[in-house]
Amino acid sequence: DRSIKIAPSILAADFANFGAEVQAVEAQGADWIHIDVMDGHFVPNLTFGPPMVKALRRHVSTVMDVHLMISPVDAYIDAYADAGADVLTAHVEAGPHIHRTLQAIRGAGMKAGVALNPGTPASAVAHVLDLCDLVCVMTVNPGFGGQSFIDMSDKIAELRRMIGDREVHIEIDGGVDTKTAGTVVQAGADVLVAGSAVFRGGSVEDPAPYGENIRNI
Ligand code: DX5
Ligand code: ZN
Repeated sequence: DRSIKIAPSILAADFANFGAEVQAVEAQGADWIHIDVMDGHFVPNLTFGPPMVKALRRHVSTVMDVHLMISPVDAYIDAYADAGADVLTAHVEAGPHIHRTLQAIRGAGMKAGVALNPGTPASAVAHVLDLCDLVCVMTVNPGFGGQSFIDMSDKIAELRRMIGDREVHIEIDGGVDTKTAGTVVQAGADVLVAGSAVFRGGSVEDPAPYGENIRNI
C-alpha cells in the first residue's frame, strides 16, 4: 500500500497525557502512531521503554510504529513484541549485526524496520532489503523533535530504486511539515512522521488543530 500515511510522533505530545493524546490525534486523522524510544546512549536524549509502550497499546487502534534509538537492540526485541508493537525499527548504526536484528524482529512476529541517520548512505541497507518491511530515512540527526529538515531526496530516490517491486515502505522522520512533505513524497516516501508539525497549536482539550495540521501536511 503506497498511499501516503501520516504518523504523528508522540515526542511532541503531552508526556503526562499520552493515552488521551494518541486517541485525540487518531480521531483527527492520524494513520499510524510513531513512538520514539531513546536510551541516552545511542542518542543524547532519553524517553521511555517497553512498559510505557505496552501501556499505550490499548489506546492505539491504528498501527503502533516503534522507532528504537537505542544500542544494543536485540535484548529488547521480545519486550517490544510483548508490548504490542506492530512495526519495530532499529538503526543500522546501532550495532554490527543489523541482519540478525531484522530477522529477530520478524521472528518475534512484528514488521521489521531499519533506520538510517543522515550521514549513512543508502548502500548500508542494500543487503537487508529482503528482511525488512520499512526503511526509515532520518531527515534530522535523531534525538530531538523540532529540528530543521535535512534534504535527503537523493537517498530516498536511490532507496526507492533499490527496493524495486518489494513491499517495503519508505518512512521519513524529522522536520516534516507543509513545506518539506512534498519533496519527500516526490522522491518516493509513503510514511511521513511528523511531531511538532502535527501537535502545534492543539491540545487534548482542543484537538481540532491536530486535524488541520495533518490535512495541511
Ligand atoms: C527524532 C525523532 C522524530 C521526531 C520528529 O529523533 O525520531 O520522530 O520526534 O519530530 P519533528 O517532526 O518535530 O521533527
Ligand atoms: Zn522517530
